[in-house]
Amino acid sequence: MVGGRLGVEDVKRMQREILELKKRKDAYIIAHNYQLPEIQDVADYVGDSLGMALEARKTDHPLVVVCGVHFMAETASILLPDRKVLIPDPNAGCSLASSITVEQLKEWKGRHPDAVVVSYVNTTAEVKALSDYCCTSSNAVEVVESIPEEREILFLPDMFLGMYVREKTGRKNLHVWPGECHVHAKVTTADISRAVLENPGSTLLVHPECGCSTNCLYFQAKGEIDVDIKVLSTGGMVRYVREHPQEDYVVATEVGILYRLKKELGGNGYNLKPLREDMLCEYMKMITVDKLLRSLKEEVYEVRVPREIAEKARKPIERMLEISGRR
Ligand code: 13P
Ligand code: SF4
Repeated sequence: MVGGRLGVEDVKRMQREILELKKRKDAYIIAHNYQLPEIQDVADYVGDSLGMALEARKTDHPLVVVCGVHFMAETASILLPDRKVLIPDPNAGCSLASSITVEQLKEWKGRHPDAVVVSYVNTTAEVKALSDYCCTSSNAVEVVESIPEEREILFLPDMFLGMYVREKTGRKNLHVWPGECHVHAKVTTADISRAVLENPGSTLLVHPECGCSTNCLYFQAKGEIDVDIKVLSTGGMVRYVREHPQEDYVVATEVGILYRLKKELGGNGYNLKPLREDMLCEYMKMITVDKLLRSLKEEVYEVRVPREIAEKARKPIERMLEISGRR
């Protein structure tokens, strides 16, 4: 598969130039699992949001290019204040990160002055700066469980992940912000029922941002249906498939993950199907190979978080990384 208007030969030529430039400039490319195949193929690291942050923190390269959406580049920049962090297209946003503003968070905190604020990494640096903890889909339950039970929690911005975490932890004092990702919110229980009927014996991999994630917990608990449901981050899906290559899968997350999963299965991937073909994040797909080449050549677009905000935002991110590091 080749992104947009570029031909196969153009893409190959650009990939070669990217690899040369990367070497010459001692640059490091970190990409998300939803990125286009031709981007994944030239990246030094491909993973989920947590993996990207952990990778950014340990890299010693002077130039880091983040192939993902803007908050991912901001997180890398916050963790690497003395390095140049680039994003090939600064307009690669995230509908979920846009679903809460600093003013809204201040107002919410004002109504719950003693609450602990847990922000999903899919937030702006300004929102993180007002938070106590960050989390990703792979450690949200762990982060919430690390907070004393009696403390009230404001969980933002994804309501489906928030409700999932509330069910998993049994925390009644966890308030959830009503934000959502436009790609995952559309997945309903009807989609799951259809997948169960059409794919008996398959394993259903579901991202916790999906509109059906809480219902999936009930299905799982009942164990009466002929489909095994695993609610996992994109990195969790990669690990699961690697460990269980013989299973048949239906995948409920952004379709870019299928390329990553197929690679894990040694290129076979005949046993993988998307739950819905229309789960496509147009922001993730804004990062194309020609933009990545330009980014490396011209060292654009630099992502810099103002120092005062970065210092405040670093604390909740570091807390999260510390909790995940204890695993
Ligand atoms: P992961 O951390 O699971 O990769 O999720 C990031 C994301 O943006 C999901 O839409
Ligand atoms: Fe944001 Fe949704 Fe795209 Fe993930 S899939 S980057 S949450 S808009």
